[in-house]
Amino acid sequence: PPLAAMLNSFDFESVAREVMEPQAWGYYSSGGDDEITLRDNHLAFQRITMRPRILVNVREIDMTTKILNVPAALPLYFTATALAKLAHQADEARGTMKEGELAIVKAAKKAGVPYMLPTLSSYTLDEMLEARAPDQVVFSQLYVNPERSRTEEYVSKLEKAGVQALFVTVDAPQLGRREKDMRNKFTQQGSDVQGDDEDEGAVDRSQGATRAISSYIDPGLNWEDVPWLKKITSMKVLLKGVQCGEDAVEAFKAGLAGCVLSNHGGRQLDTCRPGIEVLPEVMEALKEAGATKENFAVFIDGGVRRGGDIFKAVALGAQACGVGRPVLYSLASYGQNGIVRMVHMLQDELQMVMRLAGTPNIPSITEKHVITTNLADH
Ligand code: FNR
Repeated sequence: PPLAAMLNSFDFESVAREVMEPQAWGYYSSGGDDEITLRDNHLAFQRITMRPRILVNVREIDMTTKILNVPAALPLYFTATALAKLAHQADEARGTMKEGELAIVKAAKKAGVPYMLPTLSSYTLDEMLEARAPDQVVFSQLYVNPERSRTEEYVSKLEKAGVQALFVTVDAPQLGRREKDMRNKFTQQGSDVQGDDEDEGAVDRSQGATRAISSYIDPGLNWEDVPWLKKITSMKVLLKGVQCGEDAVEAFKAGLAGCVLSNHGGRQLDTCRPGIEVLPEVMEALKEAGATKENFAVFIDGGVRRGGDIFKAVALGAQACGVGRPVLYSLASYGQNGIVRMVHMLQDELQMVMRLAGTPNIPSITEKHVITTNLADH
């Protein structure tokens, strides 16, 4: 179908499933174990109901905001997903997009949202950085390597390139069992894992994408490494993959800039809670610990598929939400323009929801605009 026929983020997923190679589809779409958390990530948003206010002047709706002080068109960013070039195989069949992460960098610029560059990208860090527009701000996701000197080099490269924030992934000391991916015995055809220029060969690729990535990540990483992380960079450091109030408070007390409530898109520990479900607990714990929205930023990702999902996350205290698979699926199906359209659709949906909820701008969206009694813990 033509791009114009895509009406929501799910439509891209349907097309992607058709056009992607089975291996790539298996790697992108899979979740851990029984995929309970994977499915629940989007469903959790549906357990939150709207509590709109009426007779507010909503002629003008302003969705613009700042994400870690970076201006954004809406409270949304592209989260890190490894190996965007796997969507590549689809290109050859369709004559579209051959650009993996490079297309994502460019689409992020056009859509006006930040992109969190993955450590395990299919293009090199330099190639991704070069694809940026001169004034384009990017963030970066970090897997800490068992060899700390590699991580130090990588981080100093990011810093020199003007990357604004470092999201350290903390939910993957071992990669989850993703059976769809495992069944494919997938061997990385046409795609390279490259943490950075030097990391070629550091990753054992013989056992499928997921296992290959495992050899790159240090399961020994712990709270005592946080001061080291803070010491090696002046970038903002955040933790990606926090799942409860205690850990968010620990991150705040350790002097970090924020955290992402995330279960890695349902790809790690199965039957854990969706980020949106963890959010009320975390906001409450942070408040008690003296954190404010100004000194500690909270993000969520996982299952964000509708503008209304973004609204709910903002209402419950998130500065912004990350989207992962919708970016890969829109890339696989229509390339860079597909990603931009996907964002525009989320934006249209958010605009409508804000108008119907009586909230003309982002700061006017509050927890009073949603009801969370059907969420776990509330
Ligand atoms: C991911 N994610 C991820 N996270 C991370 O910190 N480092 C990584 O290398 C990857 N790689 C990765 C690959 C693929 C194919 C997916 C789908 C996801 C997790 C990602 O950042 C994010 O947490 C989820 O994707 C959010 O959920 P949705 O939007 O995909 O539902």
